[in-house]
Amino acid sequence: MEKNSTKDTSSKKGELLIVSTGAGDLDNMTLKAYKAIKNADIVFTMKGEAGKYKELIGEKPVYTAGHTLFMEEGDTKMSEDETKKLENEVRKTIREAYDEGKKIVILENGDTTVYGPQMGYMKEFKDLNPKIIPGISSFNAANAALQNSIIGGTKDESGVTLTVGRAENKLIDKLSQAGSTMVFFMNREFDGFIEHLLTLYPKDMPIAVVSDAGFKEEEKVVIATLETIKDKIGDNLPFYKLIYVGNFLK
Ligand SMILES: C[S@@+](CC[C@H](N)C(=O)[O-])C[C@H]1O[C@@H](n2cnc3c(N)ncnc32)[C@H](O)[C@@H]1O
Repeated sequence: MEKNSTKDTSSKKGELLIVSTGAGDLDNMTLKAYKAIKNADIVFTMKGEAGKYKELIGEKPVYTAGHTLFMEEGDTKMSEDETKKLENEVRKTIREAYDEGKKIVILENGDTTVYGPQMGYMKEFKDLNPKIIPGISSFNAANAALQNSIIGGTKDESGVTLTVGRAENKLIDKLSQAGSTMVFFMNREFDGFIEHLLTLYPKDMPIAVVSDAGFKEEEKVVIATLETIKDKIGDNLPFYKLIYVGNFLK
């Protein structure tokens, strides 16, 4: 057999990218993410999200990415059987497309690495060498909305902790003493949560709620103290919000 006649299978390999599309309006997407979507052959999005990207996606085939697939602590809102079924479909679609040399993108809001529900894809398809394209997290967008440096403390006692906004979160108890700015994601139970913070911090501790960060029209910032925040927010507790607690707000 001639040396040059050996079949080159490497050229057949596809590409798997998790593309962070940024929080809020589409113009928060990086150029790198934009190009990755433009160059893609097939696209996965979460349910109801494809419309947002329709001009970029064009005629490319779109598949359901699910929510927290391939993750141990899933929150898929689907039954176990439905989750397994979708996971099998996704596996088949991705592996076939990859073997055909296609570029596959999984689209995700904000930044994938910050509580992203599609991180399970990285482990499941590790052998395909998947790559993450970074994005503007809601954390970055909300920081900008606050128009302030969010680093708490001074010099070697400074820091920021991103964590989950639930009273059961043991990290909050530990870090409340430390002077770190706390940024809480995924808060659902505002009432019990604020009461819990009041057991850990003084009642005049500043708190900010930044909602719909990165959306030009909807973005909102409410700054108060732990004692006054509930009155200030009233019945209008937004769903997409980050909660900041820290002296940097003073
Ligand atoms: C599953 S996490 C995903 C975070 C995402 N990966 C990111 O980088 O922003 C969802 C949580 O992020 C926060 N979040 C997402 N988008 C937001 C936005 N536009 N404004 C404020 N908070 C947001 C909320 O706390 C929400 O419960």
